[in-house]
Amino acid sequence: MNNFLNSNVLITGGLGFIGSSLARRLINLGAHVTLVDSLIPTYGGNLFNIEDFRDKVAVNVCDVRDPFAMTYLLQGKDYLFNLAGQTSHMDSMTDPQTDLDINASAQLSILEACRKANPNIKIVFASTRQIYGKPDYLPVDEKHPIRPVDVNGINKLAGEWYHLLYNNVYGIRACALRLTNTYGPGMRVKDARQTFLGIWVRLLLEGKPIKVFGDGLQLRDFNYVDDCVEAMLLAGASNGANGKVFNLGSSEVVGLKDLAKLMVGLGHGGTYELIPFPPERKAIDIGDYFSDFSLIEKELSWSPKVGLREGLLKTMAYYNDHKEHYWQD
Ligand SMILES: NC(=O)c1ccc[n+]([C@@H]2O[C@H](COP(=O)([O-])OP(=O)(O)OC[C@H]3O[C@@H](n4cnc5c(N)ncnc54)[C@H](O)[C@@H]3O)[C@@H](O)[C@H]2O)c1
Repeated sequence: MNNFLNSNVLITGGLGFIGSSLARRLINLGAHVTLVDSLIPTYGGNLFNIEDFRDKVAVNVCDVRDPFAMTYLLQGKDYLFNLAGQTSHMDSMTDPQTDLDINASAQLSILEACRKANPNIKIVFASTRQIYGKPDYLPVDEKHPIRPVDVNGINKLAGEWYHLLYNNVYGIRACALRLTNTYGPGMRVKDARQTFLGIWVRLLLEGKPIKVFGDGLQLRDFNYVDDCVEAMLLAGASNGANGKVFNLGSSEVVGLKDLAKLMVGLGHGGTYELIPFPPERKAIDIGDYFSDFSLIEKELSWSPKVGLREGLLKTMAYYNDHKEHYWQD
């Protein structure tokens, strides 16, 4: 992917899970990479995520809600991978205003900064499958009705559509990827704020039972982080992607109880148990979900390469080796 050689790239949320993996890949492709991250402790940013390439990247610890900082940082950049976000669905319900400020308002001011200071930039926005809500049909394609079930879904939708609007009205090239559950080294495992898979990894490595809500039959699809990064690079490199949204996803669909069984069997010990759905989680649960990702397959030649078992093995091995950097007892 020669597009990124010697290019200037800004990644918001660059110390987070997916942003740091993307940064590593871009550096290997010869890009000059700047990371923006607020390192708010309840979010996914972690300096250890860039430990292996810390000297090859510029790091700016600042908040995307600061329009002056963002205007400065966006100048001269060829690409913006816009990943900074409040990711917890539960936190978006208890503190909806912060979710609105980061996932919607700040996105609008980032786009305004691009319009004024750097209209030639190309943007890839990290959106989410959460905006579909409870599926009417499976697999869910991009034409599925949009019906978010939580505040986070509504604000991420606004963030996504601001990007499309600025593409359509101002010609600021932008596209969005609707990510499904993404996992791998670097994700937040301290608690369930980013993904339930994170806390499952921690509990297994601590020898504690992982808790599966309800009957455990809920279906999900998962992407290993390298596959997600590849999709972002393909979207960044393609002008055909401008103004479009693409689902990511996997054809390896699994029930959560079967996923728990798979993870228990990976060689790090542990058990799982079924527990009743906590009511506050049930209220925003989307039931079964898996994606139709044929559009990105067709238009950008993307498909996931890393199987679930292989990805989970790599993930567990990573946290087994580095757990002290991700949680304290
Ligand atoms: N991981 C998934 O399964 C998944 C699924 C759907 C969508 N996404 C989206 O992908 C993006 C990246 O997610 P991730 O999984 O890497 O999560 P993450 O929490 O690891 O990364 C997000 C990063 O953004 C930073 N951030 C948050 N608010 C900020 C602010 N105001 N200013 C500057 N930095 C801020 C955080 O510190 C964190 O490092 C998010 O926008 C998320 O909504 C992720």
